[in-house]
Amino acid sequence: VEYLPIRVSTLRGDSQINFDAFVKINEKFVLYVRKGDSFEGERLDRLKSKKLKKMFISLDEETKYRDYLSKNIEMAYDKNSGKSLQNRAEIIQGQQQSNAEDVMENPENEKSYNSAKDAAGRFVNLLLNEPEALERLSKMENMDQNIAHHGVTVSTLAVGLAKRLGFTDPKVNQMITMGSLLHDLDHFQTQLNVARKLTDFSADDMTTYKNHPMAAARKVQDKKHFDQQVINIILQHEETIDGQGFPQKLPEAKLDPTSIIVGLCNCFDRMVTFEKLPRADATKKLTIENVGKYPLGHIQQLSGLLNSMK
Ligand SMILES: [Fe+2]
Ligand SMILES: [Fe+2]
Repeated sequence: VEYLPIRVSTLRGDSQINFDAFVKINEKFVLYVRKGDSFEGERLDRLKSKKLKKMFISLDEETKYRDYLSKNIEMAYDKNSGKSLQNRAEIIQGQQQSNAEDVMENPENEKSYNSAKDAAGRFVNLLLNEPEALERLSKMENMDQNIAHHGVTVSTLAVGLAKRLGFTDPKVNQMITMGSLLHDLDHFQTQLNVARKLTDFSADDMTTYKNHPMAAARKVQDKKHFDQQVINIILQHEETIDGQGFPQKLPEAKLDPTSIIVGLCNCFDRMVTFEKLPRADATKKLTIENVGKYPLGHIQQLSGLLNSMK
């Protein structure tokens, strides 16, 4: 039997799978989740806590897997499918995470980039039109401190913030979403452990950290299918308007406005996901510590958004 890798982030929702999924242990494929299983609530939490990123299916069940994926996603985007909001949000979060993983793993793959971009368009449409979905998605706990999941959370908040700031053009929000999904591409590739306080980084790790936006931008800048605005967001997401950010200490006038939006949302989710701060504390800290680093209106609007969904 031949096996095909699948992403665990695509297994979401209460629909039963109609294929077997295996894990690879010592070069052997071991049945791990079987036909009839589904992945929501506690079950999903347990799966996530394993930090397993890939499983395998037998090649002759690929069609069944593809079928499961497309049915799941159609249901999730359909408000009237009868599925709970939580279920729909979990499926959509998983798909966005999987798309981010695909592109970060193989940025040279034009097809992956374009399908991530199409899905980002659909995602934006949902966020702009269904505030309850935005709330559910932005609150989904990133239990395994996954970089791609972090990207999905940042994209959700960034679209919410952009809307409040008057950026309602779907195309602009699609770029914001793609930039957010991919902003920490270098962390994904180097596997630098960012799930700790910056003050706990060794000098070497700090060098890698300070270079991550530039390193990622270099990896993608020659890829013709990458949008320039997405590259800008990747390169500028750690810059601040006081010119004290990194890697280039760019002043506000040199920053893409969408980079500033993504940067602020990244700053918030870094505290929640990687420093394990309760959301309420992170919201307070965001306001106290970032005056001067981000426009006041942005900080107020993001706090307003976060406070509206306590
Ligand atoms: Fe970053
Ligand atoms: Fe980040």
